[in-house]
Amino acid sequence: MSPSIYSFLFLQLISMNQVASKSKVRSFPEGFVFGASTSAYQIEGGAFDDGKALSIWDVASHEKPSPIKDGSTGDVSANSYHFYKRDVEIMKDLGLDFYIFSVSWPRILPDGFTNNVNKGGIDFYNKLIDEMIYNNIKPFITMYHWDLPVQLQKLGGWTNPYIADWFKDYASVLFENFGDRVKHWITINGPSEICNDGYGSDLLPPTLNMTGIGGYMCAKNVLLAHASAYHLYDEMYREHQNGTIGIALNFTWFEPTSDNPDDHHATWDAKQFLFGAYAHPIFTKEGDFPEEFKRSVAAKSAEQGFKRSRLPELTAAEVTAIRGSSDFLGFNSYTTKMVYRDASIEGMYPVPSYMDDMGAVIVKDSTWPQSQSDWLQEVPWGFYKMLQEVSRLYDNPPIYITENGWSTSGGLLDEDRIRYLRNYLSALLDAIDAGCNVQGYSVRSMIDSFEWRDGYTAKFGLYEVDFSNEDRSRTPRKSAFIYKEIIRSKLLDPHYEPEVYLEEVPENEEKKDDYIYKK
Ligand code: BGC
Repeated sequence: MSPSIYSFLFLQLISMNQVASKSKVRSFPEGFVFGASTSAYQIEGGAFDDGKALSIWDVASHEKPSPIKDGSTGDVSANSYHFYKRDVEIMKDLGLDFYIFSVSWPRILPDGFTNNVNKGGIDFYNKLIDEMIYNNIKPFITMYHWDLPVQLQKLGGWTNPYIADWFKDYASVLFENFGDRVKHWITINGPSEICNDGYGSDLLPPTLNMTGIGGYMCAKNVLLAHASAYHLYDEMYREHQNGTIGIALNFTWFEPTSDNPDDHHATWDAKQFLFGAYAHPIFTKEGDFPEEFKRSVAAKSAEQGFKRSRLPELTAAEVTAIRGSSDFLGFNSYTTKMVYRDASIEGMYPVPSYMDDMGAVIVKDSTWPQSQSDWLQEVPWGFYKMLQEVSRLYDNPPIYITENGWSTSGGLLDEDRIRYLRNYLSALLDAIDAGCNVQGYSVRSMIDSFEWRDGYTAKFGLYEVDFSNEDRSRTPRKSAFIYKEIIRSKLLDPHYEPEVYLEEVPENEEKKDDYIYKK
């Protein structure tokens, strides 16, 4: 049988299984935990309160003309800095086992360094953590979710090799102050976005746009910073604090557009450049950047007249320090893209740049269901394949799905989010059945938030936030009731309908709450 017929039949089998598994009630394994995630700049507000200093996002969102789609900022956002108790009520109402939130570095260390620890910041996170613990919700802290202190950016931010030490010192303040109650730590969220989008292009702050150079310097330093915090915990805190510590990486599934070997190579390159660059050094036995990644950047650099590869080397000692420096893999995954390679790539990207080095064209498939966010389409089989591939490539690590979710333009009846959630959870159960070691799932986002460059135009929340009223009221969407039932029953029942939603939400927006809360 030719390989293409074989793979066709195999895909048919997968999809037949998926159809079968979609229509039956399925259960989650014993001990599987559920959560929801947010991040500091996206929800906190209180941007100038109680001694917090500016982050690169505070600066970027105030630029004129604004780089944010609706010209908004995170100055107030959902105001969780003041309404954190309401957030904890929501966690409790949903029945979450855990909640992922991030700490704002400039709220804790206004200058970036430990000579000035801001008591206001420590007090805020202490109150939030205590409220969560009191309500039996496990805090998962992300130490860094993109809001770098401006003072550190002035020194080059993630391109300055000293940032590994700065991050380690910041981590020590977090372990010291919160580690008695926090047992789950994520060092850094989304390194490829931090580096490729912030330093290797101008898509996210600090918009350095040092294409083909800045992103790679950042990548090395992010890995070293992560490893420093991991080893610090391991050596100084783990014994008495008894927690776990990992990193959250972004995984988009890449599918070749054809069986042509060039498209397969392009797909493999896209994987190596976008997640292999971080996962390979940490989660493989040999460590280091992936070979193909090193080779491609070195070859292009030489062609372009650079005396050395634009990708900095990791020394043997650095490879050793990074290898194995994660107790679990935080898996952020939302979507799938198609990949191919052909001559049209010439002139498509700046030279040098990571996209040019990668040499792959990454596109959407217009037949897939589209969310409010341009980059996000619903492709549950891609999620399944991604989990399988990660488990195969990285020695079947313990995985927490740290982010997965769907955006809409708003409204309480979010049927498409529910469909996405169910289909992805079903794909996740397929992956567990196939042997992937997934221990928990965290939906993004618990509440609507400032969605980076999209401002408030893309709503990811299970709870709608009314950004136009001062108390930022939070109202459950239909998906909140569905998720709550999944957590309560530990079952994925594709036919479950929450009673509260048997009635249509009336046209009259003012009356909508009657229908949500009354049975
Ligand atoms: C980021 C989140 C963001 C989500 C949706 C993720 O990669 O970590 O902060 O809300 O994408 O855009």
